[in-house]
Amino acid sequence: MLGHGQLGAMLQHAGMPLNVDVVPVDIESAVLPELADDDVVTAERELWPDTPVTRRLASHPNFVNFDVFGRLADRLTQKQLIDELGLKTAPWQLVDDSLSVDAVYAAMGGRALMKRRTGGYDGKGQHWLKQVEASEIPDGWRNEAIVEQGINFDEEMALVGVRDRGGNTFFYPLTLTLQLDGVLTASVAPLERIAHLQPKAEAMLGKLLDELDYVGVLAMECFRVGEELIINELAPRVHNTAHWTQAGASVSQFEAHVRAVAGVPMAKPLVKGLNVMINLLGTELDKRWWAIPGAEPYWYGKEVRKGRKVGHITFTHSGDTSLIEGLKALRALLPSRYEEVIDWAVQNCEMH
Ligand SMILES: Nc1ncnc2c1ncn2[C@@H]1O[C@H](COP(=O)(O)OP(=O)(O)OP(=O)(O)O)[C@@H](O)[C@H]1O
Ligand SMILES: [Mg+2]
Repeated sequence: MLGHGQLGAMLQHAGMPLNVDVVPVDIESAVLPELADDDVVTAERELWPDTPVTRRLASHPNFVNFDVFGRLADRLTQKQLIDELGLKTAPWQLVDDSLSVDAVYAAMGGRALMKRRTGGYDGKGQHWLKQVEASEIPDGWRNEAIVEQGINFDEEMALVGVRDRGGNTFFYPLTLTLQLDGVLTASVAPLERIAHLQPKAEAMLGKLLDELDYVGVLAMECFRVGEELIINELAPRVHNTAHWTQAGASVSQFEAHVRAVAGVPMAKPLVKGLNVMINLLGTELDKRWWAIPGAEPYWYGKEVRKGRKVGHITFTHSGDTSLIEGLKALRALLPSRYEEVIDWAVQNCEMH
């Protein structure tokens, strides 16, 4: 596994009961990984610098999805792919040498979002252009960014799917997501009120999985505008919006990815109940979380820094009121900025 962040660790964890030895690899390590001819290589990140370790891994013949990473890591080629397949995405343009803000507003209306082509995450590498604020394109963004229309969405949701080596596809239910300042903060799934959008979402992601001849888990983030799903972005890996599957599905997304990549038979993931996931962002560890009935905290073991993803807590509804009670107990233990997050989750659970 190229990369040794929390996703690599959770994939390693998921591989154990499958008898698959997942080895997260630090790309900056001075020690080159030992690779056998029949090992399989994949990555938990979309982009990587050229280091002795990444060169060694990239030259292995069994690097699954090798060509996909670069294609999706660049927002330009990612958007081109979505357009080529006739799928809906926010109208966009390359920020080239000649593009003016007036041309942007004429084409997209008065709110547009510039996104750096590579390297952005958690809302970093983005810059709003707003006509009312007489914004300009700052230095250093031309040819390095795309610009897309600001979408007045009703809400955000994501579909995570997996394709096995035989080309069979499996999907988790659409997951409702709450992004604050560009960062995923909470998610809820499955929700009855959005279930009718599931076939449409599966058709969209299925088309992408097949076109890419993809093996493993791929995530599609969407905006819901009325009955329409507009693709925000794609991620060729296990995804934060499906972390709830660790607790709430017979096959978690991590296990699904390892199964697909390693050629272990895949089965349709069965969902155990209503699930909520709360991201821990720049939050100090609190052992009292483990004492909340129904809570399944997952701590990443990283240094706590402001806004940094340091863990998540999942709850699965088991047929009584414990899910809401658990969320309320958690609300009392988290900093006050989580109040609106937990309230959002509770509200969506109550009207699911
Ligand atoms: N065109 C848009 N119109 C309105 N809001 C947007 C638009 N694009 C992005 N956003 C908001 O910003 C958030 C982050 O955007 P996006 O997913 O593109 O960024 P990212 O930094 O790559 O995030 P991630 O951590 O998911 O990789 C979205 O979830 C959404 O809330
Ligand atoms: Mg995103």
